[in-house]
Amino acid sequence: MKKFFVFLLSFCCLVALSACGSSSSSGKAAPASASAAAAAPAAPAQPAKKVLVAYFSYSGQTEQVAKAIQAKTKGDIFKIETVTPYPASYRDCTAYAKAEKNENRHPAIKPGPANVKDYDVIFLGFPIWWYDAPMAVYTFIEQNDLSGKTVISFCTSGGSSIGESTPGLSKALAKSAFKEGTRLYASDESGTQKWVESLGF
Ligand SMILES: Cc1cc2nc3c(=O)[nH]c(=O)nc-3n(C[C@H](O)[C@H](O)[C@H](O)COP(=O)(O)O)c2cc1C
Repeated sequence: MKKFFVFLLSFCCLVALSACGSSSSSGKAAPASASAAAAAPAAPAQPAKKVLVAYFSYSGQTEQVAKAIQAKTKGDIFKIETVTPYPASYRDCTAYAKAEKNENRHPAIKPGPANVKDYDVIFLGFPIWWYDAPMAVYTFIEQNDLSGKTVISFCTSGGSSIGESTPGLSKALAKSAFKEGTRLYASDESGTQKWVESLGF
């Protein structure tokens, strides 16, 4: 009889211990009550960032990338165009652009966009020209008040990296939150989309 009581006591202890173990093994604290969970304040919704994709393109590569970024971000798009077009011949254009850069001439560009103040984020795209952004891009920065805005660069090139344009752009955009972007490829739309996603868009 005594043995039976010892067995019964041990059995009850085991049952009690296993009950405790199962309630804590999940590692989750039980909610205090359903009504307390329901009363928890919801995180405030972040207003959507307004995006502008502004780009310069001579032969269309950067334009294609800019359009892919616009499609992904659902932003607006603006083409930076010089008042006087660059020479149509590639060879003449490279010579012209070299002189323009060496003389630090910032060419006149067509006005716009009208509502630049409305944007929070500006993707700024261009082909690398002589290891830098084309001078027309600098005119765009001077002509538009981008202070306080996030400006993310992107480029296409024949091999140069975006880093070559960063010293000049970060200086010109000293009043903006400038972020060096990356070199992208007109032929790789999904790569462009992945990059845009990695930035949280
Ligand atoms: C005037 C000029 C200068 C260039 N300089 C460079 C350069 O320094 N490094 C480079 O990798 N590619 C250079 N390129 C090649 C372009 O960056 C490349 O072809 C780019 O993808 C063209 O973009 P777009 O079609 O949007 O104009 C130059 C092209 C031109 C016309």
